[in-house]
Amino acid sequence: MERVSKMTSYPGKKAVAAAAYITGLLAKVPPVALVTGSGLGGIGADMTDTRHISYADIPHFPVSAIKGHAGEIVAGRMGTKDLMVFSGRVHYYEGHAIQTVVFPMQVLAALGTKAVVLTNACGSVNPDFSPGDAVLIQGHLDLMREISLSMREPQRIYDPGLNRQAKKAAGTVGVRLKEGIYAAFSGPSYETPAEIRAAAVMGADMVGMSTVPEATEAHELGLRVMGISFITNLAAGLSQNPLSHKEVIEIADKNLPMFTKLLKQIVQTQDLTES
Ligand code: HPA
Repeated sequence: MERVSKMTSYPGKKAVAAAAYITGLLAKVPPVALVTGSGLGGIGADMTDTRHISYADIPHFPVSAIKGHAGEIVAGRMGTKDLMVFSGRVHYYEGHAIQTVVFPMQVLAALGTKAVVLTNACGSVNPDFSPGDAVLIQGHLDLMREISLSMREPQRIYDPGLNRQAKKAAGTVGVRLKEGIYAAFSGPSYETPAEIRAAAVMGADMVGMSTVPEATEAHELGLRVMGISFITNLAAGLSQNPLSHKEVIEIADKNLPMFTKLLKQIVQTQDLTES
Protein backbone atom coordinates (compact mmCIF):
# COMPACT_ATOMS: atom_id res chain seq x y z
CA MET A 1 0.00 0.00 0.00
CA GLU A 2 1.28 3.41 -0.87
CA ARG A 3 2.07 5.60 2.10
CA VAL A 4 0.54 8.94 1.52
CA SER A 5 2.26 11.92 3.06
CA LYS A 6 0.26 13.91 5.59
CA MET A 7 2.68 16.77 5.22
CA THR A 8 2.31 19.41 2.58
CA SER A 9 4.91 21.58 0.97
CA TYR A 10 2.52 24.52 0.64
CA PRO A 11 0.13 26.11 3.12
CA GLY A 12 -3.50 25.04 2.81
CA LYS A 13 -6.54 27.35 2.51
CA LYS A 14 -7.21 27.43 6.25
CA ALA A 15 -3.62 28.44 6.95
CA VAL A 16 -3.86 31.18 4.35
CA ALA A 17 -7.06 32.46 6.03
CA ALA A 18 -5.36 32.42 9.46
CA ALA A 19 -2.35 34.25 8.04
CA ALA A 20 -4.58 36.87 6.41
CA TYR A 21 -6.22 37.58 9.79
CA ILE A 22 -2.79 38.00 11.46
CA THR A 23 -1.43 40.16 8.64
CA GLY A 24 -4.49 42.40 8.94
CA LEU A 25 -3.59 43.19 12.55
CA LEU A 26 0.12 43.88 12.07
CA ALA A 27 1.83 46.82 10.43
CA LYS A 28 4.69 44.51 9.53
CA VAL A 29 4.95 40.72 9.76
CA PRO A 30 8.19 39.70 11.52
CA PRO A 31 10.45 37.37 9.49
CA VAL A 32 11.35 35.24 12.55
CA ALA A 33 9.08 33.26 14.88
CA LEU A 34 9.81 31.68 18.24
CA VAL A 35 7.58 28.88 19.57
CA THR A 36 7.77 28.44 23.33
CA GLY A 37 7.43 25.17 25.20
CA SER A 38 5.92 24.31 28.60
CA GLY A 39 6.39 27.16 31.06
CA LEU A 40 8.69 29.06 28.69
CA GLY A 41 6.16 31.55 27.35
CA GLY A 42 7.33 34.58 29.35
CA ILE A 43 9.82 35.90 26.81
CA GLY A 44 7.13 38.01 25.13
CA ALA A 45 7.21 40.23 28.23
CA ASP A 46 10.66 41.55 27.19
CA MET A 47 9.49 42.78 23.81
CA THR A 48 8.53 46.30 22.80
CA ASP A 49 5.88 47.66 20.42
CA THR A 50 3.89 44.51 21.05
CA ARG A 51 0.61 43.38 19.65
CA HIS A 52 -1.04 40.39 21.33
CA ILE A 53 -3.18 38.09 19.22
CA SER A 54 -5.06 35.36 21.02
CA TYR A 55 -4.99 31.97 19.26
CA ALA A 56 -8.71 31.70 19.96
CA ASP A 57 -9.38 34.74 17.72
CA ILE A 58 -7.40 33.43 14.73
CA PRO A 59 -9.52 31.50 12.23
CA HIS A 60 -8.88 27.72 12.42
CA PHE A 61 -6.00 28.15 14.90
CA PRO A 62 -5.73 25.32 17.48
CA VAL A 63 -5.83 26.18 21.19
CA SER A 64 -4.13 24.10 23.90
CA ALA A 65 -5.92 23.02 27.07
CA ILE A 66 -2.63 22.39 28.91
CA LYS A 67 -1.57 24.47 31.91
CA GLY A 68 1.50 26.59 31.21
CA HIS A 69 0.58 27.24 27.58
CA ALA A 70 -0.94 30.70 27.24
CA GLY A 71 -2.08 30.53 23.65
CA GLU A 72 -1.24 33.82 22.04
CA ILE A 73 1.04 35.40 19.50
CA VAL A 74 3.10 38.33 20.73
CA ALA A 75 4.39 40.27 17.74
CA GLY A 76 6.79 43.15 18.21
CA ARG A 77 10.46 43.94 18.60
CA MET A 78 13.15 42.20 20.58
CA GLY A 79 15.93 44.75 20.72
CA THR A 80 16.31 45.83 17.11
CA LYS A 81 14.79 42.69 15.60
CA ASP A 82 11.19 42.09 14.60
CA LEU A 83 9.93 38.91 16.23
CA MET A 84 6.77 36.90 16.62
CA VAL A 85 6.53 34.75 19.74
CA PHE A 86 4.04 31.89 19.67
CA SER A 87 3.38 31.44 23.35
CA GLY A 88 1.97 27.95 23.75
CA ARG A 89 1.34 25.15 21.28
CA VAL A 90 -0.98 22.20 20.90
CA HIS A 91 0.39 18.72 21.34
CA TYR A 92 -0.34 15.45 19.65
CA TYR A 93 -0.97 13.90 23.07
CA GLU A 94 -3.90 16.24 23.64
CA GLY A 95 -5.70 14.24 20.98
CA HIS A 96 -5.18 16.60 18.05
CA ALA A 97 -4.57 15.24 14.58
CA ILE A 98 -0.97 15.69 13.51
CA GLN A 99 -2.17 18.10 10.79
CA THR A 100 -3.58 20.29 13.57
CA VAL A 101 -0.31 20.15 15.51
CA VAL A 102 1.65 21.42 12.51
CA PHE A 103 -1.01 23.99 11.44
CA PRO A 104 0.89 26.93 12.99
CA MET A 105 3.88 26.06 10.76
CA GLN A 106 1.61 26.30 7.73
CA VAL A 107 0.47 29.68 8.96
CA LEU A 108 4.10 30.78 9.30
CA ALA A 109 4.78 29.68 5.73
CA ALA A 110 1.70 31.59 4.56
CA LEU A 111 2.95 34.66 6.46
CA GLY A 112 6.27 34.46 4.64
CA THR A 113 8.24 33.77 7.83
CA LYS A 114 11.83 32.85 7.06
CA ALA A 115 13.00 31.15 10.25
CA VAL A 116 11.42 29.45 13.25
CA VAL A 117 12.99 28.70 16.62
CA LEU A 118 11.18 25.82 18.33
CA THR A 119 11.71 25.36 22.05
CA ASN A 120 10.60 22.63 24.40
CA ALA A 121 10.93 21.26 27.90
CA CYS A 122 12.27 17.72 27.89
CA GLY A 123 13.79 14.88 29.87
CA SER A 124 17.47 13.99 29.61
CA VAL A 125 18.67 10.57 28.52
CA ASN A 126 22.33 11.49 28.08
CA PRO A 127 24.03 11.15 31.49
CA ASP A 128 26.11 14.25 30.73
CA PHE A 129 22.97 16.40 30.72
CA SER A 130 21.08 17.55 33.78
CA PRO A 131 17.98 19.60 34.67
CA GLY A 132 18.54 23.25 33.86
CA ASP A 133 20.69 22.55 30.78
CA ALA A 134 19.93 24.10 27.40
CA VAL A 135 20.55 21.80 24.44
CA LEU A 136 20.65 22.71 20.78
CA ILE A 137 18.83 20.06 18.72
CA GLN A 138 21.14 18.60 16.07
CA GLY A 139 18.75 15.96 14.82
CA HIS A 140 15.78 13.96 15.97
CA LEU A 141 14.25 10.52 16.26
CA ASP A 142 10.62 10.57 15.24
CA LEU A 143 9.21 7.88 17.50
CA MET A 144 5.67 9.23 17.02
CA ARG A 145 5.89 8.12 13.42
CA GLU A 146 2.49 9.60 12.84
CA ILE A 147 3.60 12.09 10.23
CA SER A 148 4.59 9.72 7.47
CA LEU A 149 7.23 11.81 5.87
CA SER A 150 7.05 13.00 2.34
CA MET A 151 9.11 11.16 -0.25
CA ARG A 152 11.76 13.81 0.12
CA GLU A 153 14.37 12.64 2.57
CA PRO A 154 14.27 15.07 5.47
CA GLN A 155 17.92 15.99 5.80
CA ARG A 156 19.35 18.72 7.93
CA ILE A 157 16.00 19.73 9.37
CA TYR A 158 17.86 21.78 11.97
CA ASP A 159 19.76 24.39 10.01
CA PRO A 160 23.53 24.07 10.64
CA GLY A 161 24.02 27.80 10.00
CA LEU A 162 21.38 28.70 12.59
CA ASN A 163 22.99 26.30 15.05
CA ARG A 164 26.33 28.07 14.60
CA GLN A 165 24.59 31.38 15.29
CA ALA A 166 22.94 29.95 18.42
CA LYS A 167 26.29 28.73 19.76
CA LYS A 168 27.88 32.10 19.11
CA ALA A 169 25.09 33.93 20.94
CA ALA A 170 25.19 31.46 23.85
CA GLY A 171 28.94 32.01 24.22
CA THR A 172 28.52 35.75 24.57
CA VAL A 173 26.06 35.41 27.48
CA GLY A 174 28.06 32.64 29.15
CA VAL A 175 25.44 29.91 28.65
CA ARG A 176 26.87 26.49 27.92
CA LEU A 177 24.69 25.30 25.07
CA LYS A 178 25.04 21.55 24.66
CA GLU A 179 24.05 19.64 21.52
CA GLY A 180 22.01 16.52 21.13
CA ILE A 181 19.45 14.31 19.47
CA TYR A 182 15.81 14.77 20.54
CA ALA A 183 13.50 11.77 20.51
CA ALA A 184 9.77 12.49 20.34
CA PHE A 185 7.34 10.04 21.90
CA SER A 186 3.62 10.51 21.34
CA GLY A 187 2.67 10.61 25.06
CA PRO A 188 0.58 11.59 26.94
CA SER A 189 2.12 9.34 29.56
CA TYR A 190 5.79 9.76 30.27
CA GLU A 191 8.02 7.01 28.91
CA THR A 192 8.74 3.78 30.75
CA PRO A 193 12.29 3.12 31.97
CA ALA A 194 12.53 0.38 29.30
CA GLU A 195 11.55 2.86 26.58
CA ILE A 196 14.20 5.25 27.82
CA ARG A 197 16.86 2.53 27.69
CA ALA A 198 15.71 1.77 24.12
CA ALA A 199 15.83 5.46 23.18
CA ALA A 200 19.39 5.69 24.56
CA VAL A 201 20.46 2.71 22.43
CA MET A 202 18.93 4.43 19.39
CA GLY A 203 21.01 7.52 20.03
CA ALA A 204 18.61 9.84 21.87
CA ASP A 205 20.10 12.44 24.22
CA MET A 206 16.75 13.81 25.32
CA VAL A 207 13.07 12.87 25.15
CA GLY A 208 9.91 14.88 24.79
CA MET A 209 6.49 14.98 23.18
CA SER A 210 6.66 17.90 20.79
CA THR A 211 8.83 19.77 18.28
CA VAL A 212 9.43 16.92 15.81
CA PRO A 213 6.16 17.34 13.86
CA GLU A 214 6.58 21.11 13.68
CA ALA A 215 10.27 20.94 12.77
CA THR A 216 9.57 18.43 10.01
CA GLU A 217 6.67 20.43 8.59
CA ALA A 218 8.46 23.79 8.82
CA HIS A 219 11.47 22.32 7.02
CA GLU A 220 9.21 20.82 4.38
CA LEU A 221 7.62 24.24 3.89
CA GLY A 222 11.04 25.81 3.33
CA LEU A 223 11.51 27.59 6.67
CA ARG A 224 14.86 27.55 8.42
CA VAL A 225 14.51 25.63 11.67
CA MET A 226 16.32 25.88 15.00
CA GLY A 227 15.35 23.70 17.97
CA ILE A 228 16.34 24.29 21.58
CA SER A 229 15.50 21.88 24.38
CA PHE A 230 15.48 22.83 28.02
CA ILE A 231 16.06 19.89 30.32
CA THR A 232 13.57 19.85 33.17
CA ASN A 233 14.13 16.32 34.50
CA LEU A 234 16.06 13.11 34.13
CA ALA A 235 14.14 10.72 31.88
CA ALA A 236 12.13 7.85 33.39
CA GLY A 237 14.19 5.33 35.32
CA LEU A 238 17.20 7.63 35.61
CA SER A 239 16.12 9.27 38.86
CA GLN A 240 14.51 8.09 42.11
CA ASN A 241 11.55 10.46 41.79
CA PRO A 242 8.54 9.77 39.58
CA LEU A 243 8.01 12.41 36.88
CA SER A 244 5.26 14.96 37.08
CA HIS A 245 4.10 17.81 34.85
CA LYS A 246 4.24 20.01 37.98
CA GLU A 247 7.96 19.27 38.42
CA VAL A 248 8.58 20.05 34.74
CA ILE A 249 6.87 23.45 35.12
CA GLU A 250 8.72 24.17 38.40
CA ILE A 251 12.17 23.50 36.92
CA ALA A 252 11.25 25.48 33.82
CA ASP A 253 10.21 28.40 36.07
CA LYS A 254 13.43 28.24 38.08
CA ASN A 255 15.60 28.34 34.98
CA LEU A 256 13.46 30.81 33.12
CA PRO A 257 15.89 33.74 33.53
CA MET A 258 18.72 31.74 31.88
CA PHE A 259 16.44 30.40 29.11
CA THR A 260 15.09 33.86 28.44
CA LYS A 261 18.56 35.42 28.39
CA LEU A 262 19.73 32.80 25.90
CA LEU A 263 16.73 33.09 23.61
CA LYS A 264 16.83 36.89 23.72
CA GLN A 265 20.50 36.91 22.84
CA ILE A 266 19.92 34.54 19.93
CA VAL A 267 17.08 36.54 18.41
CA GLN A 268 18.52 39.97 19.20
CA THR A 269 22.05 39.54 17.96
CA GLN A 270 21.71 37.11 15.10
CA ASP A 271 20.04 37.59 11.76
CA LEU A 272 18.27 34.25 11.60
CA THR A 273 17.03 34.88 8.10
CA GLU A 274 20.62 34.55 6.88
CA SER A 275 23.75 32.72 7.99
N1 HPA B 1 9.54 12.85 28.77
C1 HPA B 1 8.70 13.34 27.84
N2 HPA B 1 8.33 14.61 27.78
C2 HPA B 1 8.86 15.45 28.68
C3 HPA B 1 9.73 15.02 29.68
C4 HPA B 1 10.09 13.63 29.72
O1 HPA B 1 10.87 13.16 30.57
N3 HPA B 1 10.05 16.10 30.42
C5 HPA B 1 9.40 17.17 29.87
N4 HPA B 1 8.67 16.78 28.83
